[in-house]
Amino acid sequence: MRILIIGGGGREHAIAWSLKRSATATELFIAPGNGGTVELGSNVDLKTGDHQSIVEFVVEQQIDMVIIGPEQPLVDGLADTLREHEIPVVGPSAAAARLEGSKAFSKDFMKRHSIPTAAYRTFGSDQLGEALEFVNEEGAPIVVKASGLAAGKGAIVCETVREAEEALISLMRDASLGSAGSTVVVESFMEGEEVSLFVLTDGDSYALLAPAQDHKRVGEGDLGPNTGGMGAYAPAPVLTEDLMEEALRTIIEPTLTGMHSDGCPYQGILYVGIMITSEGPKVVEYNCRFGDPETQVILPLMKSDPVDVFMALARGQFQDFALEMHPGAAVCVVLASQGYPGPYDTGHRISGVDATDERQTVIFHAGTRRTPGGELETTGGRVLGVSAVGENLKEALEFAYESVAKIEFDGAQFRRDIGHRGLKQQA
Ligand code: GLY
Repeated sequence: MRILIIGGGGREHAIAWSLKRSATATELFIAPGNGGTVELGSNVDLKTGDHQSIVEFVVEQQIDMVIIGPEQPLVDGLADTLREHEIPVVGPSAAAARLEGSKAFSKDFMKRHSIPTAAYRTFGSDQLGEALEFVNEEGAPIVVKASGLAAGKGAIVCETVREAEEALISLMRDASLGSAGSTVVVESFMEGEEVSLFVLTDGDSYALLAPAQDHKRVGEGDLGPNTGGMGAYAPAPVLTEDLMEEALRTIIEPTLTGMHSDGCPYQGILYVGIMITSEGPKVVEYNCRFGDPETQVILPLMKSDPVDVFMALARGQFQDFALEMHPGAAVCVVLASQGYPGPYDTGHRISGVDATDERQTVIFHAGTRRTPGGELETTGGRVLGVSAVGENLKEALEFAYESVAKIEFDGAQFRRDIGHRGLKQQA
């Protein structure tokens, strides 16, 4: 089976790694890939925005299935283009990907279908004055969100009204995030713990992967600026059986039926960020893809054959698919460049990856490349994700941090408290 994976981060390395564990022999192509994916298949120099070249590559190379990792090509309609050419693809249509691509759309969708989420108002590009008035009336804390895609920088939690005013001015007047911030959603702050729920669906039937928790802040104790994610663990015990049942009944099922009745059935991977509030689970946001770094923990816990799972999704035949998960827990500790999420240097040599125990850990690459001489060097902010599966969270953490200690590059930073909420829940 010949499979093309679109993307080049830790998430796509984890997808490639899982496919290589299948009983079905696979030949993998990853576009653009990274220094880790090149060990599992061929990195291909295709631009994710160049849909025509992707279709030509798929036809020429007789690709059997395409898996789209990141949100931008999905929002831009790459899955639709591939489906028009009858190419099996994992990923929702552009119409369905609006759940992530437009916060204004997703909030209105939730309101229309009575799905619990924070109260909100949307302001268009000519409504800065009204938006400023609104945050002054509402007070703080309050959340200002760019409606469009903003690579994780679009949601600003404001502790004071002044911060909210600055966020609105920056997005709407100064266009700090370009057109993504011309329409803005202002919503009430939700208190609670956030959990990432991953739904695999053909639009009708669905299955759930283990609920995970990300660690968004750069510093231990959840301090410092937001990042793309400094680590993850699964399953997240905060989502108890009762809360899971409530989330399925009030969020997941109404979302899938709502997308159907709105004429854009959701086919692919739906990632729902859920806040466990004192009033029950509420949606923080929808994403139209796997999470990063959550993929680096949920795929190692998936027992079902990954090729079968992805093919069932791509063909829209998920009914009767019994998804199986491994018992135990998984963690991922992200090693990042010094300065990340601010400016950082690249080109630092990475050592120690080969010294890690591959029976206990798997190293997923994000910002890496192999030099022509075969050495591994840093190319990004998030560099590596060290993932481990254990009988329980404590054991998985021990395995992961043992390997983290062996890996070195200049300025490497990582959090030493990944999984702290899970450990506390279990204590
Ligand atoms: N875990 C955050 C994200 O993938 O958007």
